[in-house]
Amino acid sequence: MLRKDLLGLRFLTSREIEEILELALDMKKALKYRKDVASTLKGKTMVTLFYEPSTRTRTSFELAGKYLGANVVCIETATSSVAKGESLIDTARTLDSMGVDLIAIRHSMTGAPGIVAREVKASVINAGDGINEHPTQALLDMLTIMEKKGRLKGLTVAIVGDVLHSRVARSNIFGMKKMGMNVRVAGPSTLIPPGLDKLGVEVYSDADEAVKGVDVVMALRIQLERQKSGLFPSLREFYRMYGIDEKRMALAADGAILMHPGPMNRGIEISYEIADERVCTAEEQVTNGVAVRMALLTLLSERGISYENIV
Ligand code: NCD
Repeated sequence: MLRKDLLGLRFLTSREIEEILELALDMKKALKYRKDVASTLKGKTMVTLFYEPSTRTRTSFELAGKYLGANVVCIETATSSVAKGESLIDTARTLDSMGVDLIAIRHSMTGAPGIVAREVKASVINAGDGINEHPTQALLDMLTIMEKKGRLKGLTVAIVGDVLHSRVARSNIFGMKKMGMNVRVAGPSTLIPPGLDKLGVEVYSDADEAVKGVDVVMALRIQLERQKSGLFPSLREFYRMYGIDEKRMALAADGAILMHPGPMNRGIEISYEIADERVCTAEEQVTNGVAVRMALLTLLSERGISYENIV
């Protein structure tokens, strides 16, 4: 990797994505066989700076840093100087002045991690910015597909639901297209952003059609907190039209998997029952999140030794 920061998968090459996924597989093995990786980030400091709620992403970054031997500090924005009105840039500069090496940031504003990255010497990782990108989620999703299906190239995925507000969908679209996958999306027209066809994505309004014969189905959470007015008639109707249950999943190819980035809203985008079935990889995705983030932290902190800093 040739970069200081990871701001989005739109900026990465397929080779860089491959490099992260390969190292993530090694990290997974190292964790499984309890091989010692705890000196990889010894002496480095990582901060998680989350301005939006999170369970799995933040914990996963923190565990990844700790497993690699970094000093990990988590900033609670509700109890930090952010609550006293400090700006994002001033907070970031404060952290930089303390010699922080890595900052994982989540913010409701598109582009916030990029603004911080320009201001600080530390490597900045986008842990989700508004409706824009969530690159580490897409990387862990692709790692899960690779493990389950043995490859990425040539596979077809159907991403179903609130695509408009989903940074997970956006990062996956960039990443999956780069890795040679066929990408379909399905949702009510009010929840599909315009211009997806220009990215080579097939857009469906009928979920059954979209799911037919695919290798991977990805259900997305309805992002009610980002919707200003009702963009679909009711949750019950949404579930009927776009929720993934056994019947809809049966239209996919034999051996297809059902992914969900979490947090899940059972009975809205995914049925109560299928979420607990073996076809649903939500738990494996969480496990893979730690390995992917370990790989990424390692590669980003190697810059300046074997890699050139170009961003
Ligand atoms: C996602 C997010 O925050 O964008 N969650 C996650 O990181 N696993 C998806 C979501 O909130 O729906």
